[in-house]
This record gives sequence, C-alpha cells and structure tokens, in this order.
Amino acid sequence: MSGRTYATVMGVGGAQWLERAERENEERPRLAVDLLRLKPGMTVADVGAGSGYYSELVSRRVGATGKVYAVDIQVGMIRLIQERIRRLNLRNVTPVLGDAANPKLPSETIDLALLVDVYHEFAEPQEMLRKIRAALRPDGRLVLLEFRKEDPAIPIRPEHKLSVEQAKAEIEPEGYRLDSLIEALPWQHILIFRKTATP
Ligand SMILES: C[S@@+](CC[C@H](N)C(=O)[O-])C[C@H]1O[C@@H](n2cnc3c(N)ncnc32)[C@H](O)[C@@H]1O
Repeated sequence: MSGRTYATVMGVGGAQWLERAERENEERPRLAVDLLRLKPGMTVADVGAGSGYYSELVSRRVGATGKVYAVDIQVGMIRLIQERIRRLNLRNVTPVLGDAANPKLPSETIDLALLVDVYHEFAEPQEMLRKIRAALRPDGRLVLLEFRKEDPAIPIRPEHKLSVEQAKAEIEPEGYRLDSLIEALPWQHILIFRKTATP
C-alpha cells in the first residue's frame, strides 16, 4: 500500500465526459499520441480504455499491421468499445475484459502499454504493474498520462491526480525505471517507463 487514496472507478455513465468536445483542447489527446512516436505494426495495450477514445487514435497510428488491445474491467465499457469498433471499422482493435488485478494480456507481446487517466483508479496497482510488466516486450514502454497533482489550478479532484514523485515511488520498485517525463500537455504529465532487466 502506498498511503495514497485510490479513486473510485469511473462508471459507464462517465463515458460522456470522456467523449466531451472540450477534451481536445483541455487534454490535447492527438498531441499526446504524436509524442509517443508510435509506428505502424506496433502492438499497444490501452489499459483502462473506457469508451475506446484513445484506442481509436492509437489504432490509426499502428495501422493494419499493428494491434490494439483495449482493456477494461467494466462490461459496459467493453460494449462501448465494441460499438466503436463496428461504427468505425477498427479492424486492429481487440476488446479485452480484464479484472482489477489482471489485464489478461499475452506475455511479452506489447510494445507500449498506455494508461490514460486510469492508474489512480487501480484498486490493486502493484498487481497490475506486475502483470503489465510480464506482457511487455523487453524493450517495451509503460506510459501513464496523469493529471498533475503538483498544480492545484488543474480542475480535477485530488484523488484523480498523481505527482511525478508518487508515480516513481510506486512504479519503479515493480521493475521499471522512469525513462522520460514529457510536460507538453495542458493538464497531464506524460510519464514513460521502461522495464528494468529484473523486477
Ligand atoms: C477515467 S476512465 C479513462 C478511460 C480512457 N483511458 C480515456 O482516457 O478515455 C478509467 C477507466 O479505467 C477502467 N479501469 C479501472 N481499473 C482498471 C483495471 N484494473 N484494469 C483495466 N481497466 C480499469 C475503468 O473501468 C474506466 O473505464
């Protein structure tokens, strides 16, 4: 336990907030995805995918030869992802129903695990980090987008924010090191971790 209060999981009713038009300006999701330097053919896990907003953006970047696993623990969110796949014909996106301690991903297959606005909701963060680590390729990246706790002006509840210090303290002991920190988004840190050789 980290001593941090874990946020409650956003219900399916919150999906409208994820799809709000202002998100483009408030969070700059397209810029965020650009900064990840995804390449065609990559395999990405969008863990805590919600309605699949980021899965769609990533799907277009990794292309027909790539793959996106859109993982969520709520059946209602998986349904929204399935609808999105059908509506937009996103052939490279596979929905995955995970559980609170396991994203149910195949081992050593993932180039990048993307966690947008979700790490602070994990009820079992250490177990999730271990399972994600096992799913990452040796050179794979774990990327968190989290609202900056350091900035009280960001209009998000405190338990839904994370500081760089908190992220490092919780994530590095699970076999990762912070490789880079990108501060190019209006509200969120982009934290990029790499796997260390041993957990
Ligand atoms: C605030 S939403 C963010 C959704 C999406 N990443 C986005 O930014 O549009 C967080 C999502 O994470 C999911 N979630 C929470 N804990 C999870 C876990 N352990 N594994 C997978 N998904 C989880 C919730 O069900 C919810 O859909």
